[in-house]
Amino acid sequence: EQVPLEMHKVRIVQKLNLVPVEQRLEAITEAGNNTFLLQNKDVFMDMLTDSGVNAMSDQQQAAMMIADDSYAGSATYTRLERKLNEIFGMDYFLPTHQGRACENILAQTLVTQGSVVPMNYHFTTTKAHITLNGGMVEEIISDKGLEVVSAHPFKGDMDVAKLEAIVAKHGADKIAFVRMEAGTNLIGGQPISLQNLTDIRRVCDAHNLLLVLDASLLADNLYFLKQREESCKALSIREITRKMADLCDVIYFSARKLGCARGGGICIRSKALYEKMRGLVPLYEGFLTYGGMSVREMEALTVGLDETMDEDMISQGPQFIAYMVDELQKHGVPVITPAGGLGCHIDVMRFLDHIPQSQYPAGAIASALYIVSGVRGMERGTLSEQRDPDGTEPMANMELLRLAMPRRVFTLSQVKYVVDRLVWLYQNRSLIGGLQFTEEPAILRFFYGRLAPV
Ligand code: F0G
Repeated sequence: EQVPLEMHKVRIVQKLNLVPVEQRLEAITEAGNNTFLLQNKDVFMDMLTDSGVNAMSDQQQAAMMIADDSYAGSATYTRLERKLNEIFGMDYFLPTHQGRACENILAQTLVTQGSVVPMNYHFTTTKAHITLNGGMVEEIISDKGLEVVSAHPFKGDMDVAKLEAIVAKHGADKIAFVRMEAGTNLIGGQPISLQNLTDIRRVCDAHNLLLVLDASLLADNLYFLKQREESCKALSIREITRKMADLCDVIYFSARKLGCARGGGICIRSKALYEKMRGLVPLYEGFLTYGGMSVREMEALTVGLDETMDEDMISQGPQFIAYMVDELQKHGVPVITPAGGLGCHIDVMRFLDHIPQSQYPAGAIASALYIVSGVRGMERGTLSEQRDPDGTEPMANMELLRLAMPRRVFTLSQVKYVVDRLVWLYQNRSLIGGLQFTEEPAILRFFYGRLAPV
C-alpha cells in the first residue's frame, strides 16, 4: 500500500469535538441543510474549504511577530512586493483583502456591457463579478475536463480551437481578457498544463488579448506539472512557476489559499494597466501598501509564498487527496478521477442517481454526510450556480461533494475516518432524499440559502 508521508511535524494542536448524531441532526436542520450555516463547534472535521484554514509553519508564525505596522510604506509591504516580483517576475503589484476583491478590480476595469470573458472554467465569485459589470462568461474547458472518470493528467486545459472560434465570433475588441484558472476549482481541482498555457498565449498574441491567470490554486497545479508534464520534470518548482508567469499579463490570487495566509493581490506586467486599476485599491481595499491586509497577514504570506516553492510543502495536499480517492475507489464510491488538488470530489450524479439535479443532490449528500460523521463538506453543483437573468435555473455540468483538504491540517487516521463514513453512506444511499429552497438569496445563493427535504 502506498501511504503519503508528512514532511513536517505537528507542534500546535486544537481540540476537536465529535457531538452525538442527534445533536448533528438538530444542528444541520437549524442550518437549513446548508453546511455553510453550521457552527464550527458542531463540526468534527471541517472539510468545507481550503480557504484561510491551512496550517501555518513555524517560520510564518515567527515572521508575523516582526511585522512593521504603518499605514503607508511599511517594510512588511516592501518584503511582500519583492517576494512576488522575485517569484513571478512582474513589475507591479496591487494588494487586496482576498481573491474576489481582485476579481472586482479586474472586472470593473476591463469588463463593460457586452464584454466576453473566455475562460477554461468559471469560479462562483469570478462569474458574479463579470456578469455584474455587464459581461458574459464563455466556458471553453476541453471536453475531457467534464469526463468524471478519466486518466487525463490535465483536465483543466482550455480548448484552443474554441478560443479561436470565440474570437472570430465576437471580435477581439469584445474580449475583455482571457482567464485561465490554475487547479480548476469547480471541476474537481484539476490542473492546467504548461503546454496549454503556451498555446493560449499564442492565440492571445495573435489577437492582442490580455491573458489573466487565477493562481489561487497554483500550489497544487505546480505539483501536478512537476509530476505529470514531461517538460517540467527536470525543472525546479521555482522554474516551473516562472515559465507559467512569463506567459501571462496578469496573475491574481487568493492568499487564503496560495501561501497559506490571508489576503490576496494582483501582479501586473504593464504599467499602463497597473495605473488603470490602481485607483480602485484605496477605494475598495485600503491604501496601496496594505490593500485590506494586516501587516501580520502580509508577513505570513511572504514566507508562505517562498514555502510554496518547496516540493515537499506542495506535495502534502495532493498526496493525501490521492490516498483518499484511491481508498474510496476500492470500495466502489464514485469519485472524480484522476485525483486533483484542493480536495477529494465525490461524483454525486452517480452516488445519488435517484435524485434529480433540480433537487440539489450534492447539497443533500453534504447534509447527509454531516449527519453520519460530523464532517463538513461543500456542495459544488447546481446549488452553487446562479440563476440566469430571466430566472431560469441552469443545471451544473457536475454535481460534486467537495471534501477539501486544508494543507498540513489533518492526519491520515482522520482521513481514514472520512473514508469509512463515506463508504457507509454509499451503502445506505437510498436513505438520502432531495432538497428544495425555503429561502433563496438572489446573489451567491449557496452561501446563505436555506433548504428543506422535498
Ligand atoms: N479563485 C479561485 C480559483 C478560488 O478558488 C477562490 C476561492 C477565489 C478565486 C476567490 O478567492 O475566497 O479569497 O475571495 N475559493 C474558495 C473555495 C472560496 O472555498 O473554493 P477569495
